Amino acid sequence: MIQAKKLRDLNDSDRRLIVSARDVSMNAYAPYSGFAVGAAVRTKSGEIFTGANLENASYGVGMCAEVAAITSANSSGDYNIEAIAVVGHKFTDPGDASQIVTPCGRCRQLIFEASQVAQTDIKIFSCSGDLELIHEAAVSEMLPEAFGPKNLGLEKVWPRMRDKLIRCVKELQDQTAGS
Ligand code: THU
Repeated sequence: MIQAKKLRDLNDSDRRLIVSARDVSMNAYAPYSGFAVGAAVRTKSGEIFTGANLENASYGVGMCAEVAAITSANSSGDYNIEAIAVVGHKFTDPGDASQIVTPCGRCRQLIFEASQVAQTDIKIFSCSGDLELIHEAAVSEMLPEAFGPKNLGLEKVWPRMRDKLIRCVKELQDQTAGS
């Protein structure tokens, strides 16, 4: 069930996640929409990774804040995501921070894949810029009947493939170190 929450009712860890998403929206590159979005993911290790939206003169190639945050976690080798917060606001004249921002469809698909890898129904906090509106829901509610690795019969392959990948890169490192 999608639940409306107040910041003060949340625990410290969720509050910190939401505030991190709000704060990183300061780094948005959004000259075309004038809409700044910040996202923060928390992994099972308790680490927080953040990202902001990145637009482009070729509009279609712009990137959402969620993509940046999830990519940051993955690039740090910490892809076991348990929660994500998204905060957005129209900062151009006149600024409006009262509308809630929910992850777009593409981002929900990315969050779903992460939930399959982490084997966790990732918690999503969708928030307005002023943090007055906060909706909490699980990714399974935001993207029901989602298509994922299971549909391809591949839900179990990644842990073994990842081990192989790490071994492979270590060998490459050893080769460089020996030359
Ligand atoms: N945006 C995000 O970063 N995340 C979302 O989930 C919704 C939309 C960005 C994309 C674009 O830079 C701006 O918000 C307006 O759509």
